[in-house]
Amino acid sequence: MEPFQNTKEIWDADLYDKKHSFVSEYGNSLIELLAPKRGEKVLDLGCGTGDLSNALYKYGVDVIGVDKSESMVEQATRKYPYISFMVKDATKLNYVSEFDAVFSNATLHWVQPASQALQGIFQSLKQGGRFVAEFGGKGNVQTITDEIIRQIKGAEFEFKKEQFPWFYPSIAEYSTLMEEVGFRVTFAQHFDRPTPLDGDNGLKNWINMFGNQLFVGVPEHSKREMIVNIERNLKEILYKDGYWTSDYKRIRVIGVK
Ligand code: BEZ
Repeated sequence: MEPFQNTKEIWDADLYDKKHSFVSEYGNSLIELLAPKRGEKVLDLGCGTGDLSNALYKYGVDVIGVDKSESMVEQATRKYPYISFMVKDATKLNYVSEFDAVFSNATLHWVQPASQALQGIFQSLKQGGRFVAEFGGKGNVQTITDEIIRQIKGAEFEFKKEQFPWFYPSIAEYSTLMEEVGFRVTFAQHFDRPTPLDGDNGLKNWINMFGNQLFVGVPEHSKREMIVNIERNLKEILYKDGYWTSDYKRIRVIGVK
C-alpha cells in the first residue's frame, strides 16, 4: 500500500500553477461561502501553491496554509512569503480549538480515511467554528477514469482497486461522517461542474498531473499509447469547440462545531 500513499508528493507545482489554475479560480466562490471576517484565524487545508490562502489574507484573515506536498508548500512560500505555510497531512492534524474556520478546496477527495481527517478538523476548530469545504463528489471525472481503467485492463495490465486514489462521496455519505465526529451539517450540495482544460493537450496534461497512480506498473511507453487511445475514445464526448472539458462533480459542505 505504501507506494500508493504519496501521490501528492510527486505533483509538479509548476505544471499545477501553469495548467491547473482553474482549481484556485473556482475556489474564489468557495471563499464567498466561507464569508471570512477580518481578524479570523483560518486554516487552509490543502493549500496547494497558496493562491486561496493569499485571497484569504487579502480579506484580513490570519491564515495558515497546510499541504501534504513539500513542493507545493515550497512554491506557496516562494510566492507568498508573508503567509505561514507548512507541510502537514490532513489525517494528522494536531491543532486544538485554534481556528475560527477550516477551509478546504479541491483536496479532501485525496484524503483517506475521511473520518480521521474530519476528527482532526473538528478538533482544530473553536466551539462555534465552521468547516467549509469543496471537493470531488460521487461520479467525479468518471468518464475519464473509467476510460483510463478500461485501457489499462484492456492492455492486460493489472489494476488493483487500491490504486484508485480518490474518495468521491455522496452528500449523504459525507454528511453522515461529519455528524459522526460531532458537526452540525448546515449545508450540503452536489453539483456538476464541467471544467475546461487548457489547450489541445488539456486531457493529456490532466492525466499526467493527477492520474499517475492509476498507471502504477504500466511502462511509460504503454502509458503514452494508452493516453493516445483515451484521447481518441473520449474526443466525441469531452472535446467540443476546440477544448477538452472534464466531467467534474463537486460537493460543498458546511459544518458547525
Ligand atoms: C478534482 O478536483 O475533482 C480532482 C482533481 C484532480 C484529480 C481528481 C479530481
